[in-house]
Amino acid sequence: MGAKILIGSQWGDEGKGKIIDVLTQDIDWVVRYQGGNNAGHTVEIGDEQYILHLIPSGILRTGTKCVIGHGMVVDPLALKDEMRDLESRGIELGGRLLISDRAHLVMPYHRMLDAGNESQLADGEKIGTTKRGIGPTYADKVSRTGLRVCDMLDPEFEKMLRRRIVSSNKRLRVMGAESMDAERIVSDILEVSEYLKPFIADTIALLNRAMRAGDKILFEGAQGTMLDIDYGSYPFVTSSSSTAGGAATGTGVPPHRIEAVLGVLKAYTTRVGEGPMPTELDDEMGEMLRSEGGEYGATTGRPRRCGWFDAVVARYSAEVNGIDSWALTKLDVLDNVETIKICTAYEVDGERLETVPANARILEKCVPVYEEMDGWQTSISEVSTFEELPAKTKAYIARLEELTGVEAGLLSVGPRRSSTIIMKDCPFTS
Ligand code: IMP
Repeated sequence: MGAKILIGSQWGDEGKGKIIDVLTQDIDWVVRYQGGNNAGHTVEIGDEQYILHLIPSGILRTGTKCVIGHGMVVDPLALKDEMRDLESRGIELGGRLLISDRAHLVMPYHRMLDAGNESQLADGEKIGTTKRGIGPTYADKVSRTGLRVCDMLDPEFEKMLRRRIVSSNKRLRVMGAESMDAERIVSDILEVSEYLKPFIADTIALLNRAMRAGDKILFEGAQGTMLDIDYGSYPFVTSSSSTAGGAATGTGVPPHRIEAVLGVLKAYTTRVGEGPMPTELDDEMGEMLRSEGGEYGATTGRPRRCGWFDAVVARYSAEVNGIDSWALTKLDVLDNVETIKICTAYEVDGERLETVPANARILEKCVPVYEEMDGWQTSISEVSTFEELPAKTKAYIARLEELTGVEAGLLSVGPRRSSTIIMKDCPFTS
């Protein structure tokens, strides 16, 4: 295995953390390339549960190096807390965790601006952000007014920071929000800079050198295709490129070096935050998926909106990411369902749509066209080979493969490492 990308194929929360953890037994480097601590990747190992927000999930495998790539936005205070927590649980970070010197910094004022922006939006326009400052930090990046990790090493850093606090306080006052205490921010950020310094590196050079040496690299996408700033249900998206293309721009690894794209796909659909979701179920079935699937945000604890599998979204995701294989997750959550529905197309204003429309207002009006399949109505969480799965589970998987044009290389039937079925010739592990 050379360089591969693993991405979320729906609205995030597809169970990427577990899949990455399963794959990284053979991987030298795990690299995040976009987003920030809006993400929450949950990994269960034995009786221990880890929720990672900024640090790639590969950190839980001794011997794997982890990179926070420059396409990410890094809240240094949140990163320090996450690092401390891992260290207190016996996980060695020195020499294993590397932070790109080009990544942008999420500052306390970005979090305040995030909340302020949301509060100014009318009902129906609110995005339901995680309030982690992601949008305002990426806005500063493209406005060319951001602070980057390398600035923390600059003797002028304090001055640069103070100037940004003054201008952010002006913006906050215009919004009617309270100003921030500059002295507090400066002292907290200067302190955390000292802590992070040993981990800062030119990760572009390191990764390219590692690739030339034949190391195996996995790019860990956060969020999902439908939250991508370009491909998602804009404006109800996050502010980064969560699709496969983001891995090249967010790390400095040339696109032609990437061998395969692996898509993580949940056996049904969920979404957190506002915005259209055609297959959302506002009934007992939706409740059942939420409780059986533990569908609560790993970052904010918000209940996730749940619904049937949407093959229109999955097909679109396969296309824009060039997905070579699916990791199909949370199949076991459907264990007790009598009749399972699959959305194969949408209907809007009397027309049939086979693709995702650009306009979120049109997506909002889309009515799913469903087909039905018999559920298997037995527990599959102890099954360890494809052959042992009930015929009806196999039929469901085959139908998803047919509708999306991509085969499943890996099946997940429970949260633990061991509840994973790896198919023959699976591009995830070869
Ligand atoms: P932001 O990324 O905090 O700006 O939030 C923008 C939208 O993306 C909101 O609808 C969030 O709920 C959603 N979002 C952000 N990160 C995640 C994630 O890791 N999983 C699922 N949804 C997310």
